[in-house]
Amino acid sequence: MSERHLADLPRCDLCELSRTRTRVVLGTGPRDARLLVVGEAPGREEDLGGRPFVGRSGQLLRRLIAEEWGLGEDDYLITNAVKCRPPNNRTPRPRELAACRPWLDLERATWRPERVLAVGNVAARAVFGFRDGVGTVHGQLVTFEGGAGLATYHPAAALRGGPNVVAVMREDLRVLARWNP
Ligand code: URA
Repeated sequence: MSERHLADLPRCDLCELSRTRTRVVLGTGPRDARLLVVGEAPGREEDLGGRPFVGRSGQLLRRLIAEEWGLGEDDYLITNAVKCRPPNNRTPRPRELAACRPWLDLERATWRPERVLAVGNVAARAVFGFRDGVGTVHGQLVTFEGGAGLATYHPAAALRGGPNVVAVMREDLRVLARWNP
C-alpha cells in the first residue's frame, strides 16, 4: 500500500477478517482528546453497530472511566488493536494483528493522545509490546514521546472475574490519572 490514510480504513482488505466482518469498526471520539483507550477487537454488537465498546464490556469500561476520571463518552478516543470482528469472537491471529498494526500506529500518530490505556492482553502487547499477560504487567507505567500509558484487564475479564478484577482496574486507572506530564 502506498501512503496510508485513515480515510481508507473502512475499505481495508489486508487480512481475511475483511471477508467475514459486517463493517470495519473505526475508532471514535474527539480527535484532540488527551486519552486513547485501546481494546482487542470488535465483538458482535460492535460489528453490527460500527462503534467500539458498545456491548456489555464496553458499558463496564465506560462506567469505570466515568467514575474514576470523570470523563464522558465524548471526552476520549477509543479504538481496537484489530478493527474487524474475528468470527465467533476468537482471539485475533498474529497475522491479523500484524496487518492491522499500521492502522493503530496511524491512529496514534494522528491523534497524539497524552495518555493511552490498553485493556487486555492483546492490546497490552500491541500498544506497549508487553509479552507477559496483564495479570503481570497491569498498572506498570510506560512513558513514550509526548505521554504515558499502561495496561489493565479487559472489561470482559472483569465481567467474568467480578469485584476483585474491577478493583484492580480502578487502581490502574488511578495510576494513569495521577501521572503528570
Ligand atoms: N471488546 C473489545 O476489545 N473491543 C470492543 O470494541 C468490544 C469488545
